[in-house]
Amino acid sequence: MKPIKVGLLGLGTVGSGTFNVLKRNQEEIMRRAGRAIEITMVAVRNVERAKEIVKGDVEIVTDGNLVVNHPDIDIVVELIGGNDIAKDLVLKAIANGKHVVTANKALIAKHGNEVFKAAQDKGVMVAFEAAVAGGIPIIKALREGLTANRIQWIAGIINGTTNFILSEMRDKGLDFATVLKQAQALGYAEADPTFDIEGIDAAHKLTIMASIAFGIPTQFDKAYIEGITKLEATDIEYAEQLGYRIKLLGITKRSEAGIELRVHPTLIPEKRLIANVEGAMNAVLVQGDAVGATLYYGKGAGSEPTASSVIADVVDITRLATADPEHRVPYLAFQPNALSDLKVLPISEVFTSYYLRMRVEDKPGVLADVTKILAEFSISIDAMLQKEPAEGESRTDIIMLTHQTQEKNVDAAITRIEALASVTGKVTKLRLEELS
Ligand code: HSE
Repeated sequence: MKPIKVGLLGLGTVGSGTFNVLKRNQEEIMRRAGRAIEITMVAVRNVERAKEIVKGDVEIVTDGNLVVNHPDIDIVVELIGGNDIAKDLVLKAIANGKHVVTANKALIAKHGNEVFKAAQDKGVMVAFEAAVAGGIPIIKALREGLTANRIQWIAGIINGTTNFILSEMRDKGLDFATVLKQAQALGYAEADPTFDIEGIDAAHKLTIMASIAFGIPTQFDKAYIEGITKLEATDIEYAEQLGYRIKLLGITKRSEAGIELRVHPTLIPEKRLIANVEGAMNAVLVQGDAVGATLYYGKGAGSEPTASSVIADVVDITRLATADPEHRVPYLAFQPNALSDLKVLPISEVFTSYYLRMRVEDKPGVLADVTKILAEFSISIDAMLQKEPAEGESRTDIIMLTHQTQEKNVDAAITRIEALASVTGKVTKLRLEELS
């Protein structure tokens, strides 16, 4: 069989990894794919740099249109990122009847429905394993390995930069700004790390996983997103004293009311395996009704880990290229005409447990006032911590963990608590998941 021809858009960290791994393991990959896979064209910004990476019969161009319009290219691998040029080139590649592999989480999370529709109309495949959790084959696991299950929920550490920051804050007692500078110096965080630290990158990945797990269209705009920029070292410390770690989790759950789709700092019991995922690593915990809990752990970024996922997609497409489109695995795991319209719930309708920290006067009746308000909103307290006031201080911190309740109840109770004369300033609210 003649080799399958691949054109790369972008030859940065992931592109060069893809090139190197494909070359290094070409014999083994060919034995798996049943056909040789050749990168024959790359579109790059910096031709000189590209020449150092690709040697041999690879055409280097600076215009991606030349790749997506080339009649000999079977698979276009998009590794540019972002929504503008990348989206345009992916849609052109599809219109030209090419299969597409992409690591572009923003593109799939925001424009997935449009991209899949175009691909379905043309009978081509779009694969995106590398878009979620780098080298961890979580898309394959959700879409195929767990296909027998009614998936109940997913909770993932799906941003390495923020996990590194939180690990360092906890381990060394440092504040957010100090560790962010370290993360940037180490090359974990981007020079503009907003997407990482504000939770947007994690929300892109979560949106994709939710669609595949529950068979719903991609709905990034409905995700609730809260990053780690406002998280205080004090809360990491108090959480630890109560037996919890704080992680930036992407959580998606199915209930009768709808789908929860949320990214936020979350307390999780320190005894859970996922609570012990440290540094820049990723992990995704999936609860299925038949299988129970399964945990997927590995590198969520980096040149060759991400290339591992890109090449897995290229091999999948190579194997299925001659199959009828209707015999291939659907883009979002469910047949396109069988997607569900289950609504994504606003955060006010989410049910979870809470960590509340408030600064109060250390005098009789204060605790009673606070617990009375919580009781009025049917919020049950699970655990409590009160510190002795510091020398010469009349105020102290009270930390409460609640049982499950609805977010709008907690918000209403907090408004009332903050109005108490004995409570100073704002109540800090964090969400807590037992993940059991
Ligand atoms: N910026 C991402 C992270 C890596 O920190 O996990 C690529 O998705």
